[in-house]
Amino acid sequence: MTLRSLYDQPAGNFREDLVRVGRGTPMGELLRRYWHPVALADEATATPRLVQALGEELVLFRDGSGRPGLLHPRCCHRGTSLVYGRVEQDGLRCCYHGWKFGVDGACLDQPCEAEGGRQRQRVRQPGYEVQERYGLIFAYMGPPDRRPLLPRYRELEELAPGEMLDTDGTGLGSGGWGTVPCSWMQHFENVMDPFHVPILHGAFSGAQFVAEMAVMPEVTFETTPRGVLSTQIRALPDGRRLTRVTEACFPTLRVVPSPRLGEGGRVESIGWVLPLNDTHFRILVSGRARERGELGQMRSRYNGKAWTEMTEAEHRDFPGDWEAQVGQGAITLHSEENLATSDRGVAMLRRVWLREAERVARGEDPAGVVREGDPMVVFAAGNFFA
Ligand code: FES
Ligand SMILES: [Fe+2]
Repeated sequence: MTLRSLYDQPAGNFREDLVRVGRGTPMGELLRRYWHPVALADEATATPRLVQALGEELVLFRDGSGRPGLLHPRCCHRGTSLVYGRVEQDGLRCCYHGWKFGVDGACLDQPCEAEGGRQRQRVRQPGYEVQERYGLIFAYMGPPDRRPLLPRYRELEELAPGEMLDTDGTGLGSGGWGTVPCSWMQHFENVMDPFHVPILHGAFSGAQFVAEMAVMPEVTFETTPRGVLSTQIRALPDGRRLTRVTEACFPTLRVVPSPRLGEGGRVESIGWVLPLNDTHFRILVSGRARERGELGQMRSRYNGKAWTEMTEAEHRDFPGDWEAQVGQGAITLHSEENLATSDRGVAMLRRVWLREAERVARGEDPAGVVREGDPMVVFAAGNFFA
């Protein structure tokens, strides 16, 4: 048998239309038709900070009245970065000549001009509208006349006695701000890849969650009005039957019930996969918990260590989602993949997201966009025992 020489292997390329998130790209324009959490609510403070979303850099702050603001960093006077500005009761003041902007971008003061700037209402600092909900700061970065309502999610609205909403932004064990150095799509399509669970999380690295997850499930995939859905049925060794339902929803929602199973029931949390740019993402999670900080503590530990504390050898011994997805490269080479039958969920997700991007390109609204009433999204996701 002759080895297929690497010398003859083409360099390969990726699906630009699938992974690019900048303005004017197919996926970038699709994503700009929805609200995205760009930070945890706790990260909007009196200290302005740079955040990234969909390939754009923005300044996030919270004024003295508690209102979050998200403005373009470049001051509309002569361009100094507002990240060096200072927050006041009603806005953010630029360090250079002291122009002050409200969270809506209105220029409130020009101290070098007579009377604080008689013409100041003529200039406006650009930015994006934000809303605070579920412990997250949501921004709408698309065409203003296409702005949808920020949806409500039943799973985050109906809390049982003793439950509270908790958030986490350290996703994939990367710690701190939780920036993961690869395309958001590599993580997102993993939501429709239930076959990696018994391998990567159930066998290869030992039982990263619970022993039941090592059982190879019977899997089906289907499309829903809100995205794609997978049902995984496992015959457990103790005779019970576990039906696990996971969903990927527009725009970037990862609706995955706890892999630790517990007593089962409806999905506990929603993770938004925020593309920071084409090659970095962050996961922002909001969910029901018994105490604050619980969501961030659910991550797998090895030798009692969190992911960031592990040595290189331990990463090798115990690879998880971070290693598997970042290991595909900053942007995976779609032209060099060999998709098999177990990848049909991944293929379905890509197809459905590209279909909606085409609708946006035709001038239509994409799936899940609602502009009237008080839309409540109800998921089917959960762990159900029988
Ligand atoms: S550059 Fe911001 S006030 Fe002059
Ligand atoms: Fe995983």
